[in-house]
Amino acid sequence: MNKLQLAKLPLPARISLMNSPTPLQKSRLAWGKDSLHWKRDDLTPFGLGGNKLRKLEFLLADALNHKADLIITSGAPQSNHARLTAVISAMLNLSSIIVIPGEMPSEWGGNLLLDRLAGAEIIACGEEPLAEAVERISSERSFQGRHPYIIPLGGSNALGSMGYFLAFFELMEQAKEQGWTPKTLVCSVGSAGTLAGLVAANTLLPQPLRLIGVNVISISDQLYSRVQQLASEILDLLQTSCPLPTFEITSDFIGAGYGLPTPPSSEVIIECFRTDGILFDPVYTAKGVAAVKNLMQQKSRELPEEIVFWHTGGGPAIFDQHYYTDLLNYT
Ligand SMILES: Cc1ncc(COP(=O)(O)O)c(C=O)c1O
Repeated sequence: MNKLQLAKLPLPARISLMNSPTPLQKSRLAWGKDSLHWKRDDLTPFGLGGNKLRKLEFLLADALNHKADLIITSGAPQSNHARLTAVISAMLNLSSIIVIPGEMPSEWGGNLLLDRLAGAEIIACGEEPLAEAVERISSERSFQGRHPYIIPLGGSNALGSMGYFLAFFELMEQAKEQGWTPKTLVCSVGSAGTLAGLVAANTLLPQPLRLIGVNVISISDQLYSRVQQLASEILDLLQTSCPLPTFEITSDFIGAGYGLPTPPSSEVIIECFRTDGILFDPVYTAKGVAAVKNLMQQKSRELPEEIVFWHTGGGPAIFDQHYYTDLLNYT
């Protein structure tokens, strides 16, 4: 789909938070015959970057249209989404609340520190389910005269995921300008919006790419149908219908669970930092890169392929004591 065709789609309103295109950079790693490129969404312009800015362009435009004065979102204490929501809300003169599960942390490293610097109010909801706590806090603040706007976990509804629908074409255009065509595209999957946007866009290609999502959340069969559902909601929003192409989800790299580093993920953080000078994060991208390494090392193909890993950010989490202590074991 070229720029003209894209411009004809009924895209929702958005604010501008990107300095697109983000770099598309060839890796110096030699993990086999394939060539590997990084799509650098860790280098998006604000709040130390990451994939959520592409989603927030749409979500915060919607919040402003609804005359919101308070943004409420939720996530794990080291949520990159929460960090970027807090920073961009502050830049737009909106207050923000971040609801986290469990008790109030005693350490304020990594993303939590940045949430505080951005002026977010952090509320720990204890045993109460996160989604219920968000609704309750929103009602309480409305009662007090505020106009809250709730952004779902990871910014992953159809509106937010639209950011990655567009990003897919940005990548294709960029690769074309560089004189090559991606064959396989890999990204890490959490709340599923990033992959869903890419999947929706991929349906519009005459020759779709191989899309692989690396599950870092939990082993569940629901993730695949969640991505499918979100992708078809994006196409509905754009009044475009298309059969959904197949995509793959691998759950082989989660290790013991969400947020728990594995030896391969910790090793690729060090390897990529030393070879390409790029920092991957222990929660999301390092597990994705570990999957890419495995794919490139296992393949016995005749012809080398062009592989892209979408770097979705997350670097600040490394400055949480839990993560840097683990990484020091690998230096
Ligand atoms: C650094 C990073 N990479 C990848 C993801 C996964 O993106 P999604 O939630 O859209 O699946 C997240 C989600 O929080 C993230 O913070």
